[in-house]
Amino acid sequence: MRTVYLNGDYVAEQDAKVSIFDRGFMFGDGIYEVTAVIDGQLIDFPGHMQRLRRSLGEIGMTMPLDEDGLARIHHHLIEDNALREGLVYLQVTRGTQDRNFLYPSTDTPQTLVLYTQAKAVIDSPLAKRGLTLISVPDLRWQRSDIKTTQLLYACMAKEMAKAEGADDAWLVRDGAVTEGSSNNAFIVTRDGAVVTRELSRALLPGITRGVLLDLIERDGLRLEERPFTLEEAYAAAEAFVTSSTSFVYPVVNLDGRAIGNGSPGPITQRLRQRYIDRVHDLIH
Ligand code: PDD
Repeated sequence: MRTVYLNGDYVAEQDAKVSIFDRGFMFGDGIYEVTAVIDGQLIDFPGHMQRLRRSLGEIGMTMPLDEDGLARIHHHLIEDNALREGLVYLQVTRGTQDRNFLYPSTDTPQTLVLYTQAKAVIDSPLAKRGLTLISVPDLRWQRSDIKTTQLLYACMAKEMAKAEGADDAWLVRDGAVTEGSSNNAFIVTRDGAVVTRELSRALLPGITRGVLLDLIERDGLRLEERPFTLEEAYAAAEAFVTSSTSFVYPVVNLDGRAIGNGSPGPITQRLRQRYIDRVHDLIH
């Protein structure tokens, strides 16, 4: 049984109760973050806190606590739950109120929830096998750069993938891939360039994506930040996705077509290893 954090208290998970009037529950009016934990240590925590501050600001909210205060809660939960590898989930909502679309006054207490979840990030079987994907239209709202808790379309996209026997989905808007349902999307062209869409309101600025772009350039690979089409993806030598809970996962099939030779590509595997090496450097 886990210890979780709710509004100032550390409680057993079954005792953590949130009001039915919470705006997170009623309107999806909240922001979240997911930070990876490896060997009991947080990975790229400052980047996640910077994005949290930005997401909150974009919907007129402020940080529930300062970064040190949030770090203390993360560390407390990791220790209490003896978490070695997995993630810490953080969610902050605009608090509770009777039904009213307008925001409550700014002195309304926010709801702050954190919990840990164990997951094999480094020795994940998906990293060896690679993902099969389908493409679906990107029907999300037009502020996908904000990490809000309204994730219904991401859930629908994953369900559509599951119904077709695939692992996940890439989202397509105006003929180009925006990102994955819960990760950023990359291809490697046949002449060796790594391509991922440039940041805009259409996609989440992934923390893993940002770190990987540095590693790609340091590796001497050519990087192109631009939209890419499904046709380019079908013809790519390799493809992969990035996120905090997967790091780098190869993509081996898209819409029933093998990517490259249908197994995880060498550049993808090298970048995953570079990412893991960097994580080990950070924590040792
Ligand atoms: N998802 N794009 C979307 C839509 C995401 O939901 C995520 C992360 C990413 C990758 O961002 P990062 O590298 O900062 O994790 C990109 C998290 C893991 C989730 O929702 O559980």
